[in-house]
Amino acid sequence: MMKLGIIVLLMSVFLGYKIKKAIDPPPLPEKLEEIWWGPGNPGSVGTIIKPFTINVSDEVLKDLQYRLDNHRPFTPPLEGIQQQYGMNTNLLKEVVDYWRSKYDWRKREKYLNQFPQYTINIQGLDIHFIHIKPNVPQNIKVLPLLILHGWPGSVREFYDILPILTTPQEGRDFVFEVIVPHIPGYGFSKPAIRPGLSPDNIALVLKNMMHALGYHKFYIQGGDFGAIILRNLAVLYPEVVQGFHCNMCTITTLKRYIKSLLASIFPSFPSWYVRPEHYNRVFPVKEHFFDTIRETGYLHEQATKPDTLGIAMNESPIGLAAYILEKFTTGTNKTWQNREDGGLLEYFTYDDLLDNIMIYWITKSATTSFRLYSETFNRANTEKGILSQPIHVPTACARYSYDFYTPDGMLKDVFVNLVQLTDIEGGHFAAFQLPEIFAKDVYDAVEKFEIINTN
Ligand SMILES: *[C@@H]1O[C@H](CO)[C@@H](O)[C@H](O)[C@H]1NC(C)=O
Ligand SMILES: *[C@@H]1O[C@H](CO)[C@@H](O)[C@H](O)[C@H]1NC(C)=O
Repeated sequence: MMKLGIIVLLMSVFLGYKIKKAIDPPPLPEKLEEIWWGPGNPGSVGTIIKPFTINVSDEVLKDLQYRLDNHRPFTPPLEGIQQQYGMNTNLLKEVVDYWRSKYDWRKREKYLNQFPQYTINIQGLDIHFIHIKPNVPQNIKVLPLLILHGWPGSVREFYDILPILTTPQEGRDFVFEVIVPHIPGYGFSKPAIRPGLSPDNIALVLKNMMHALGYHKFYIQGGDFGAIILRNLAVLYPEVVQGFHCNMCTITTLKRYIKSLLASIFPSFPSWYVRPEHYNRVFPVKEHFFDTIRETGYLHEQATKPDTLGIAMNESPIGLAAYILEKFTTGTNKTWQNREDGGLLEYFTYDDLLDNIMIYWITKSATTSFRLYSETFNRANTEKGILSQPIHVPTACARYSYDFYTPDGMLKDVFVNLVQLTDIEGGHFAAFQLPEIFAKDVYDAVEKFEIINTN
């Protein structure tokens, strides 16, 4: 009896230790090495800032026109099907007709060039960024803000919020100086030539970029992969982050899954961890599980065989458009998979959406953008556990109704210094979809951060 007792005790201690070890994030990694990601020898290119203008050659446009005019016939959608099997080809035909005959690239190029743009070489990578320094009266403070997009987005998502963020607002005594880069391998930012450029390493590149631009402390804003990269920045380099506005506050810790499991077994559990008005965003768990499976196939492919997928996307502008637009349908409102028009024009115009697609097409960055998933969702990177680490800098989460949802009772496992939590009717491409609401939420958050930081 005594022996059994000791064995049970030892086993409990062991299991308890194992569970605690699994729940607690691993220690923070050592100081990251400054890897040279681009061609040439380390240090062979200086950190020179160069003005940048988008200027696509006539050959590229002629080639695109040819591909749009000469595509093979589309496979018709199944009877009674809208977007449930993916991009509806009746809708795609409309988009392609617009692209071929009405979308005027030279006009769009002028539009895209409206803000000052630069490139800067950091650790061998030419990073492209928009940089707007507002001209304001002396009594208005100017606060630096780094804004980061995700996939399948680009700096284009922010064109409507940038004028709001850089123009003094009634009743506010501050305004932003915005720095809006493309992630390495996206748009006009150059890709790494060797493996390993994971979000923590990108965070270091961005910190070095901000440093080279003269900023040692700044605010950060991001959604999608922008959120993931900036979370790495906030965890690894909290001393440079004054505050973090995040529009994709997801939690993937083991603790979260244990809580989710408990919640699905004990019906009384949710009352304190999910707000009653959000029950339908979590329950029934089974429905949400299958939703997630249905919407994340792309992620698995990009995380495992990005180069294979990238060949097709780099070859066919129409394939690329279908692949990206599908995300703008369900990502904006998941019920729109039941609409033949995918709801694409509810919040966007074809010009808006094609600008973003063109940035991928003309820079041939499909493959290099997909690779970010491979550099993130692999064992070596996830074992670092950076996304399980508490974020101590003041944080604001903007939770959009059609984006990934994390209940209140779990957010604080990671966002331990959450000073603002807003629930907003809208989707994943929030800044692009609802610029005024989005910009106001950023101002509100930073107003709170400023009070904390100046006390
Ligand atoms: C784009 O390049 C062409 C050819 O080099 C040049 O003539 C034109 O002025 C450039 N446009 C812009 C906006 O820089
Ligand atoms: C999402 O779609 C549903 C159903 O079509 C609609 O009732 C709702 O207002 C939409 N939400 C947004 C934010 O567009």
